[in-house]
Amino acid sequence: MGSDAGHGRETVLILDFGSQTAQLIARRVREAGVFSMVIRPETPAEQIAARKPKGIILSGGPASVYDAGAPTCDPKIFELGVPILGICYGMQIASKLLGAQVAKAEHREFGRASVTVRDRTGLLHALPEQATVWMSHGDQVSLDGAGAELKSASTVLASTPTCPLAAVRIARHARGDVPALTFYGVQFHPEVTHTPQGAEIIENFLYEVCKCAGDWAMADYLQTAIETVRTRVGSSRVLCGLSGGVDSSVVAALLHRAIGEQLTCVFVDNGLLRMNERQFVEHTFRDHFRMSLVTADAEAQFLGDLAGVTDPQEKRRRIGHRFIEVFNQEAAKVVQAKGGSVRFLAQGTLYPDVIESGHGHAGTSAGIKLHHNVGGLPKDMAFELVEPLRDLFKDEVRKLGEVLGLPEKLVWRHPFPGPGLAVRVLGEVTREKLDVLRSCDRILLDEIHAAGVYRSTSQVFAVLLPVRSVGVMGDGRTYESTVAIRAVTTEDFMTADWARLDYELLARVSNRIINEVRGVNRVVYDISSKPPATIEWE
Ligand code: XMP
Repeated sequence: MGSDAGHGRETVLILDFGSQTAQLIARRVREAGVFSMVIRPETPAEQIAARKPKGIILSGGPASVYDAGAPTCDPKIFELGVPILGICYGMQIASKLLGAQVAKAEHREFGRASVTVRDRTGLLHALPEQATVWMSHGDQVSLDGAGAELKSASTVLASTPTCPLAAVRIARHARGDVPALTFYGVQFHPEVTHTPQGAEIIENFLYEVCKCAGDWAMADYLQTAIETVRTRVGSSRVLCGLSGGVDSSVVAALLHRAIGEQLTCVFVDNGLLRMNERQFVEHTFRDHFRMSLVTADAEAQFLGDLAGVTDPQEKRRRIGHRFIEVFNQEAAKVVQAKGGSVRFLAQGTLYPDVIESGHGHAGTSAGIKLHHNVGGLPKDMAFELVEPLRDLFKDEVRKLGEVLGLPEKLVWRHPFPGPGLAVRVLGEVTREKLDVLRSCDRILLDEIHAAGVYRSTSQVFAVLLPVRSVGVMGDGRTYESTVAIRAVTTEDFMTADWARLDYELLARVSNRIINEVRGVNRVVYDISSKPPATIEWE
């Protein structure tokens, strides 16, 4: 069942019935100060009990409980004496297992709804009488055909005119060896921001119902992670591939804090980096953190591999292969220099990667992000993996970076793809084109920082198009390249919207690029969302 997270701290387990928002629930729980993990819905009750959860949340899901093959959970989880919250499908499947009916709602509800709160204790503690919630359901629970026992155990907590059981509590007394049950079901989604009191509802579940103390804090996590790394690594050496991105930087800083000189970082300069990027990484890690950092100067090899290649996937393939080769060579040198005692490789795998690569729960989207592994290392290297960020979401990694004292500039860096500028020089990649793009990108980012919009955008970059167009400069006619500006806002990079950048800002960027960068006479702004476009152009 996933990684061995939690380390004895309070944990809430989330059973994922294939919901888009299962991870969001996990984040909300952690934001409220309690560690959470998403697990498979059919995980046996004994395994769940072994984790000693303070509470269990059953997520929503796309199925109907009466569909053939609809996901279900072990009914014994209702006999563990652990409070359970069912959200939407989670409420329906629990109600069915507990003996209530689930039927097609007369009125399907999608979007905002106003619920009348009838019981403001426990889950709905301190909510207003009339609360706005986000509904998204076709089925709903009814107590009409339920047995007398279930009826008397149930309390309606909230309703809408079309959904009489918008929130319910089922409280069953202990029977013999079977402990009491406290189940809350909500037909709406407290985890989404469209439910304004959603965070309070989740806090109520954690603190009013599950009686959590709230022991999930980054500084404590860091301490535990450091101890775990020390115990695992002992006196061996660890290699860490450093890209200068947030994840690998946080891994490097954490490992350095844990094992100091036993860590060697390897940074591959593939010639596809942004302006002064190598200097920035070397300065930060070698000079500031005093880490042992090896830089592989591999520009010539990468550019050689890319000569004449125009197909984006072929570019990725060649870059991926070369990266592995260069990294292996550097690793071998370190092994030789340090006497063959390098046993571990540290990687910045995050919790969503663990889930997406299929090691997590049901209903995963394996495959979607396959190409994003380019720039990574194969699983069959002769090292054991150390992945101290395996339990964290991206925003938690940033928090950890802050606790570790990484510079703000690094902690809040926008993501940069493994194949680097090679996928932003459309068509064939040459040193000259890369230099043009680097200059444009630098101007763009300078202006974005100066306008104070770096943090409110998720990714901003320039793309050099294989398009030349006519212009006039002074008295002369020009026939030069076009640069596209891409700026997006997104939560998770799976969907994204183009950023509504200020026209004056765009005007400054365009003026500066055309005036300062030789070879560019036209700048265009990309106004496509993802989907159907992607964030990168290749
Ligand atoms: P797309 O273009 O698929 O990108 O919308 C989504 C996010 O992934 C990044 N990206 C990559 N990252 N190797 C990476 O490490 C890749 O080959 C790659 N392609 C895209 C992209 O920058 C964006 O953040």
